[in-house]
Amino acid sequence: MPLIAVLPGDGIGPEVTTQARRVLEALDLGLDFEEAPVGGAGYLASGRPLPPDTLALAKRANAVLFGAIGDPRFEALERQLRPEAALLGIRRELGLFANLRPATLFPGLESATSLKPEAVDGLDIVIVRELVGDVYFGEKGRRTNVEGLRQGYDVMSYNEAEVERIAKVGFEMAKRRKRKLCSVDKANVLETSQLWRDVVNEMSTDYPEIELTHMYVDNAAMQLVRRPNAFDVIVTGNLFGDILSDQASMCAGSIGMLPSASLRAWSGDNGMYEPIHGSAPDIAGQGKANPCAAILSAAMLLRHSLNDEASAQKVEKAVGAALAKGARTADLGGSLSTTEMGDAVLRELA
Ligand code: NAI
Ligand code: MG
Repeated sequence: MPLIAVLPGDGIGPEVTTQARRVLEALDLGLDFEEAPVGGAGYLASGRPLPPDTLALAKRANAVLFGAIGDPRFEALERQLRPEAALLGIRRELGLFANLRPATLFPGLESATSLKPEAVDGLDIVIVRELVGDVYFGEKGRRTNVEGLRQGYDVMSYNEAEVERIAKVGFEMAKRRKRKLCSVDKANVLETSQLWRDVVNEMSTDYPEIELTHMYVDNAAMQLVRRPNAFDVIVTGNLFGDILSDQASMCAGSIGMLPSASLRAWSGDNGMYEPIHGSAPDIAGQGKANPCAAILSAAMLLRHSLNDEASAQKVEKAVGAALAKGARTADLGGSLSTTEMGDAVLRELA
């Protein structure tokens, strides 16, 4: 029986994860669920954002269903005790280097986006973000420089193997879609990006059927709101991918709509699945959060970790059907609570 580790986290994490778990349970696939605290909840339970038992469960499980972390009560703690340390820790410990972030616009949500409806009509793009390298994992620190000024630094670096494995995910993904891959970097300024571009170009000879383009990240930010549909698959580093995917969420109506999968192989491994949003302290505990991103993350779990494409599509269709009937949480201009939105999806699933 496949084991699903459920790590709800803090803030709206538990609220949305509950709905995602309900959906998985309703499919009656004989899954085992085991829950463990992480982030602010981990700190409260054991004084550590990533308790060893939680990490062990994540490693043991066939897949991890993750909520969100970032309880502001713990913001003042030293970096390794803050909730965010748990997320970086799991990603690193599980080697989850490939973060897939699809951005699709469900019919009917055109009015929820901040862009012109015709610009986002039929939106269907995927951002492939590198997840365990870049400036997030490089050497970082504070020091006093020679002039006696306080200085902070974070080193950005990628080696060729790290670029190659994420670029491969981008190429393979493009192969199964519209065969267009856009690699986003800042090669006009950054040495890291120069290497990134060299490696991606070298690999492109193995993928003659893929139309490869390169774009600087600042231009990509502009194109993403100008003509998002011109993209198919975007492959990029950790920092640029983080920013561009939040931006892409606005093309899809709400950040509460965007799921993600974090993998360490193309498919079939014990990946981690989570909405791209954070713990949303401004709405936590009020039952207002949109659970769709979490529910769609569960669909990705079915697809990538359990190789159950049929069930994945069933869940995605149920979300689409609920939205088509007008089910909306506040972020989408409606008034349903988190649980009511979950109910609406479950009704369609039945
Ligand atoms: P956020 O994604 O938590 O919230 C940004 C805005 O979007 C807020 O106004 C929030 O109310 C809204 N929002 C987010 N998810 C929503 C949902 N499902 N339904 C309706 N509205 C939603 O980002 P923010 O505010 O920058 O960060 C809050 C905390 O979360 C921070 O501590 C941050 O470090 C952490 N964080 C954690 C992530 C994770 O667990 N993967 C990812 C991003 C941030
Ligand atoms: Mg982010």
